Amino acid sequence: MSVLVTGGAGFIGSHTVVELLNAGEKVIIIDNFYNSKPSVLEAIKTITGKDFTFYEIDYLDRKALERVFEENPDIDSVINFAGYKAVGESVKKPIEYYTNNISGALVLLDTMRKYHVKKFVFSSSATVYGEPERIPLTEDCKTGGTTNPYGTTKLFIEQILKDIYASDNSWDIAILRYFNPVGAHESGLIGEEPQGIPNNLMPYIARVAAGTLHELSVFGNDYDTKDGTGVRDYIHVVDLAKGHLKAIEKLNKEKSGLYIYNLGTGVGYSVLDMVKAFEKATGKKVPYKIAPRREGDIATCYSDPKKAKEELGWEATKTLEDMCKDSWHYIEKHMQ
Ligand code: UFG
Repeated sequence: MSVLVTGGAGFIGSHTVVELLNAGEKVIIIDNFYNSKPSVLEAIKTITGKDFTFYEIDYLDRKALERVFEENPDIDSVINFAGYKAVGESVKKPIEYYTNNISGALVLLDTMRKYHVKKFVFSSSATVYGEPERIPLTEDCKTGGTTNPYGTTKLFIEQILKDIYASDNSWDIAILRYFNPVGAHESGLIGEEPQGIPNNLMPYIARVAAGTLHELSVFGNDYDTKDGTGVRDYIHVVDLAKGHLKAIEKLNKEKSGLYIYNLGTGVGYSVLDMVKAFEKATGKKVPYKIAPRREGDIATCYSDPKKAKEELGWEATKTLEDMCKDSWHYIEKHMQ
């Protein structure tokens, strides 16, 4: 049996493929390299010593996607990472975001239905909780009130999946709500490569430490948090990748169902905690200044990860030091 991974050359996709291959799964990757590079595929082979099948296609291309299912009749589950993910860009390009993320997911799900493949793992995000109803966030907290098209695509696809399951409960679906993925594989061979100036905190900090960016702007120090800066649940990408493996195992065990899990650590760190942790783990200075709040940001967001622990037997094990060291290791290898 094979797992089809869409967007398998991307940041979270590539780390998940490594964990799948290490666990002995057969993997088929599709990617159009919109936000990734072919060299990642070689890196995955170097890390794992294992091979996989690859197709350079866009998942919106129904004919090409059908060919993948035709040629690989042993596909029995799909993990979908082929979404666009930049919050700021989504505000400027809503049509592209809705088309790629939602139409893409629909083409994929329709094709799966055609080939009778009904196990589906979806990359969702804590962003679906909007302004948190309570902290820590449990999976039954209210969703909605997303503040950008990217977040809204995640919310809509979750709804589409619920509707599909309601119409045909032989589907077997896991919705994984990621908190803030950071870090890189400890080999330094795969990691996060944002194009241009990063929007997210950790890659920004890493580039300031590397000297390619001058200083960090801390967006607001007047939030109702311990030091006034925003608090988030940062999770090492390898822990996150392992969560997908557990989700696939769960779907293989159950006959059918629709399951929703937070993938986070359950611990919140502030922006200033992150700066200090990065400096300590790497010995590099991270100069910063306090800047105005960023529009759309919330004060605090962290998970209650209990449900994933109880039902998947999964919990994050990597430390904040691991996250900082591994991010830095990747940057050192690739940016200088
Ligand atoms: N921050 C700064 N300076 C920066 C960048 C970020 O101070 O240069 C702060 C933010 O204000 C926030 C924290 O660092 O308090 C984390 O910001 P990120 O941009 O790294 O992450 P967000 O929590 O805003 O968003 C991330 C992902 C989204 C996802 C969301 C889920 O980018 O894709 O988590 O909660 F939807």
